[in-house]
Amino acid sequence: MCGIIGATGLDDVVDLLVEGLERLEYRGYDSAGLVLTFPSGLWRVRAADGTRSVSALRELAASAPGGARAGLGHTRWATHGHPSIENAHPLFDCTGRVAVVHNGIIENHAEIGARLQAAGHTPTSATDTEVLAHLIEEHMGTGQSLAESVRAALLVVRGSFSIAVVSADEPELLVAARRNTPLVLGLTDGAALLASDIPALLGRTKRLFVLADDQLAELRPGSVRVTTLAGEEVDPPALSVDWDLAAAQKGGYEDFMSKEIREQPRAVADTLLDRRRPDGSLTLDEARLSDDDLQKITKVYIVACGSSYHAALLAKYAIEHWARVAAEVDIASEFRYRDPVLDPAALAVGVSQSGESLDTLLALREARRRGARVLAVTNVVDSSIAREADAALYTRAGPEICVAATKTLLAQIVALELLALTLAQVRGTRSAEEIGHIIDSLHRLPEMIEDVLSREKEVDQVAEALAGARDFFYLGRNVGYPVALEGALKLKELSYLHAEGYPAGELKHGPIALIEPGTVVVGIATRNPLWEKFQSNIAEVKSRGATVVLVANDGDERAEALADHVLWVPEAEQLLAPVVDIVPLQLFAYRLARLHGLDVDRPRNLAKTVTVE
Ligand code: F6R
Repeated sequence: MCGIIGATGLDDVVDLLVEGLERLEYRGYDSAGLVLTFPSGLWRVRAADGTRSVSALRELAASAPGGARAGLGHTRWATHGHPSIENAHPLFDCTGRVAVVHNGIIENHAEIGARLQAAGHTPTSATDTEVLAHLIEEHMGTGQSLAESVRAALLVVRGSFSIAVVSADEPELLVAARRNTPLVLGLTDGAALLASDIPALLGRTKRLFVLADDQLAELRPGSVRVTTLAGEEVDPPALSVDWDLAAAQKGGYEDFMSKEIREQPRAVADTLLDRRRPDGSLTLDEARLSDDDLQKITKVYIVACGSSYHAALLAKYAIEHWARVAAEVDIASEFRYRDPVLDPAALAVGVSQSGESLDTLLALREARRRGARVLAVTNVVDSSIAREADAALYTRAGPEICVAATKTLLAQIVALELLALTLAQVRGTRSAEEIGHIIDSLHRLPEMIEDVLSREKEVDQVAEALAGARDFFYLGRNVGYPVALEGALKLKELSYLHAEGYPAGELKHGPIALIEPGTVVVGIATRNPLWEKFQSNIAEVKSRGATVVLVANDGDERAEALADHVLWVPEAEQLLAPVVDIVPLQLFAYRLARLHGLDVDRPRNLAKTVTVE
């Protein structure tokens, strides 16, 4: 996720760009840049100072030449190419007269890039974005206008994008387009503006318009023209905004947690993008491990903390089932003190959204010291864990501000499933057809998550009915067990209520002593081969007076008969179902915390990044 801002027709365009980027920093901040247009050429500055990137850019922009009336700004959350000045946007074509900023992922950048290089173009970055600048350059070279060149370039790209482009040849024009990532347009009497999100523009105008997928906008001082990528004229719908700026930074949501929960379909979809070669086989291109390396692996050790540990537990099921490689999962803070047995044929995987958890970092160092290859699965490119690992597989959830993990967790589960499928592919344990089928099912998850989110009101009603409860037991079997652990963790960290997660079959070995009238048991009861056994586990708690809430698949009459309340979800394939089943539990924990009057974004005693042992 990156932030884009642009303006034409303003006397203080630099101020608008820098202020806009400051408001878009939540979308990414590992580097930032801006470009100004002049008939004589473009003027660009870029900074790559981590969390200081935008403030460093502000200082650099102070030396901007006067007289620019149009420009673009960008704040980056790296996906392809490290956070560095060279990879920071805006990116230029070969002539330096076309500049592009982009949010999203160009899936077929490698094949386009190879063709462009063969035609004589020279890339200066490792980004997926730069091919756009060169494609536009090619079309402009044949005499096409900037807008027509952008349109033509976009017809050959796959993936998701919101882009904005300027050229010194038409210095008052901004051309923008989008597919699957947001872009808002704004108008004032003498200017036209664009941004990834409303807060960046709110200080200047409330005349806002939404650009829809596969539409292209031409912005000139005081005017906007919108067409479809196919060239049809469109009247963009006006956006009515009655939020203040503080609310707008949260996208109109009351808190970052609600916003991030709603960003989950996108986080999952982006994590899945760009992972298949043209022949359909899987590739983890950021994972610098060859197929040969992966074939030789005899055992996978996964280390993680908190919610990331739950993603790791789910990965064990997928890796063992699909790839038939033994997988062990350890709480990172325990791993290095238990004298583990590792060798060069072992793969140690560290899962960490922040990429900075010291426990995970130290566990991976220990694994490496004992000879294992190390793979980081993280949301932050070039984080400490990613830098120290032999290879990194990035989730693409964008920055997560709320302390409790939501979208990063779902993205981790999906990334780890891709790892499991890649292992299965190189080891030949699953046919190409089976893998293709699972990948197709993974691609259906965003829609299913969206479906669960649309039922939030039903979850709220269950939370309201249980607002007085103090003790919660979350039970699951098979992949439902890590889901139960995650549901309990979300509830305890957000609402400070007592919540435990257990494998349902273990309850009778002790914890059942705690079940009494008033205890709430939340069961993960989506369809799986253990449903019947799970039903008996639920009957045991019911007969001891527990109030039962079940997460169940639509139309499951047994669940309806057994439960006091049901959180309905659509049915996903068994190993993928956690990505859907976790969502109502997030909504449930969120609502209970809010009913208890708590600050969901900053729960007490917790920190987003835990860099102590
Ligand atoms: C739970 C949560 C924490 C983190 C844990 C690991 O909502 O956010 O349990 O999952 O601190 O953090 P990372 O993934 O950054 O290593």
